[in-house]
Amino acid sequence: MDVLVVGGGGREHALVWALTHSASVEKVYCAPGNAGIADIAECWDIKPGAIHALAHAADEHAVDLVVVGPEAPLASGIAEVLDSLSVPCFGPSRAAAIIEGSKAFAKSFMQRHGIPTGSFEAFTEVGAALDMVHDSPWGYPLVIKADGLAAGKGVVICPDAEAAVAAINAAMVDNRFGAAGDTVVVEQFIRGTEVTIMALSDGERVLPLLPSQDHKQALDGDEGPNTGGMGAYAPAHSVIDAKFVQRVTEQILEPTIQGLAAEDRRFAGVLYAGLMLTEDGPVVLEYNCRFGDPEAQAIIPLLDEDFGELLAGIAEGAAPTRPLRWLDKHCACVILAAEGYPGKYRRGHTITGLEPLRDRDDVIVFHAGTGNEHGSLVTTGGRVLGVTGTGSSLDGALATAYDAIAQIEFPGMHFRRDIGRRAEVV
Ligand code: GLY
Repeated sequence: MDVLVVGGGGREHALVWALTHSASVEKVYCAPGNAGIADIAECWDIKPGAIHALAHAADEHAVDLVVVGPEAPLASGIAEVLDSLSVPCFGPSRAAAIIEGSKAFAKSFMQRHGIPTGSFEAFTEVGAALDMVHDSPWGYPLVIKADGLAAGKGVVICPDAEAAVAAINAAMVDNRFGAAGDTVVVEQFIRGTEVTIMALSDGERVLPLLPSQDHKQALDGDEGPNTGGMGAYAPAHSVIDAKFVQRVTEQILEPTIQGLAAEDRRFAGVLYAGLMLTEDGPVVLEYNCRFGDPEAQAIIPLLDEDFGELLAGIAEGAAPTRPLRWLDKHCACVILAAEGYPGKYRRGHTITGLEPLRDRDDVIVFHAGTGNEHGSLVTTGGRVLGVTGTGSSLDGALATAYDAIAQIEFPGMHFRRDIGRRAEVV
């Protein structure tokens, strides 16, 4: 097979890496990719949002499978455009991607299908939203979400009414997220332990991936602003064991896939459930319609499958009828970020120290925001690299990742030093 991966972050590097290790895959293309992806795949200078250009390029190159990394092209309908050209797509249709594309849809969907989630109200009128947060039935903190896609920046946890008013005004009056903020969801804050469970589905069968934990805040100890994710590890079995994953599969993942099918929104791809484990059981905080990032960088290297064959089977409605096979190992991924991230950051800093890591089979450096400038590897994004260490234990995987990081340098580089430590406190 020849496969096109859409996207250019660490998640897409992990997807490309696994595809290049698949016996079923001959050639991998990536659009737009990054400097690390360009080492192992042919990159095309087409942005993920240009869904018609991507589909036509895939068709012209007789690509056998398109694997879509980010949510935006899915929410714009890339699967339908590919389908019209008879190119198989790993990733849901626009109708199913709404599970991530509209927070108000996702919450009412869960309500309709008896899937556990926190109480909420959705507002299209700013006045009504402000009235509600002045007299919150759930007290504080309160969660305010822009309804649409907001590049991971649309969720605010508000400690008091003043913060809630500011979050609502930012979305609905100042239009900080454009049309994505025309509707706002106000949600009860749920306490507990956060965990990510993703599952592959062909629209019927549901194959859970290993559980993982992301670390969303920028600084150690879960301090500082929210980011796209500063590190992840898998399997998170000290937080959620295999029996509990089965419970989540039966109570959350399968009803989600079945509910979408019943509403004529067949979902073929990877369903991401961001869960809070509470005293009353697991509760869904959010759905995504794609692999989590950085979770993908910690989970995909543990799959003991021909990745190309697996994703092609999902795209064609023929998921395996057996559970997925996994290596008996652990992975920890630590994100190296640019100075200032998740706020404003500078690009163009030279990255050094990667060369000696190339030969190590216990470390994979996934590139996210990197490019080549005048023959040097330079930073081009906020999340720059994801360093994944593998080991026979979580501690071993973490030690390997941090040991590798000690060799890497770029001006302003920052990272969390406590990735994986939440596994111990639960
Ligand atoms: N790591 C969180 C996300 O991918 O949305």
